[in-house]
Amino acid sequence: MTGELSPIDKAKFVAAKRAAEFVEDGMRVGLGTGSTAAWLVRCLGEMVEQDGLKILGVPTSTRTAQLAREVGIKVISLDEARWLDLTIDGADEFDADLSLIKGGGGALLQEKIVATASDQMVVIADAAKEVEHLGSFPLPIEVIPFGWQTTQALIEETLVSMDVMGRQASLRMNGSVPFVTDEGNHILDLHLGRIGNPRQLAMVINQIPGVVENGLFIDICDKVVIGYGDGRVETRDINEGTVSEDRLDFVETDNLFRDI
Ligand code: 5RP
Repeated sequence: MTGELSPIDKAKFVAAKRAAEFVEDGMRVGLGTGSTAAWLVRCLGEMVEQDGLKILGVPTSTRTAQLAREVGIKVISLDEARWLDLTIDGADEFDADLSLIKGGGGALLQEKIVATASDQMVVIADAAKEVEHLGSFPLPIEVIPFGWQTTQALIEETLVSMDVMGRQASLRMNGSVPFVTDEGNHILDLHLGRIGNPRQLAMVINQIPGVVENGLFIDICDKVVIGYGDGRVETRDINEGTVSEDRLDFVETDNLFRDI
């Protein structure tokens, strides 16, 4: 079964499996959204089922909540948890400072709230997500539907004075209709090419009326676990300044691969 996984899926899987080792009994854990985070949720589900791991999960989207329940993780809301020990999530891009672009899956708002309410955020990613400068991946901005075209125009105008290469914004679509987030909002994807000053951009964008949140995560991520298709895993800790490497084997009998 594992032979059917693409190298990229193997990379995502080993990053998730390694990061799942940070989760301990009794923890309140933020559960990210996306294909890499889905591996994490499956790994944690297996630990709950096979090892009796006792955790409470706070999902960052309705689809993660559904998967978490399916694999046997007890799900609570952020307000029930109040504060989390750890959040593990994917990312669309990360740089050397562990600044991130997130929101490719449209869940950036809940993801940022949950990660910020955590003692620690660990990002799990395949190596292709590492960049020298953020911005090749379009930066998602969650905006309220009311007046979104005016908000888009204000954002584009604001970008003129920002250190970015491109300035075009596009409304994210779901087929022929605008994409709607779990919060009932829309997403504008900013095609910036290169972001010279992510911290400044994040602050300025959030000042624009109609903007709910942006997909730049600055000073939020503590560790990144990078997976490779051959099973190698690298863990970088920005606070400790450490880098460690190990290798995970694929286990053919792994239940995790059912229904994939
Ligand atoms: C969802 C996200 C995801 O973490 C990000 O898009 C990465 O997804 P994937 O693991 O599928 O590559 O931010 O809003």
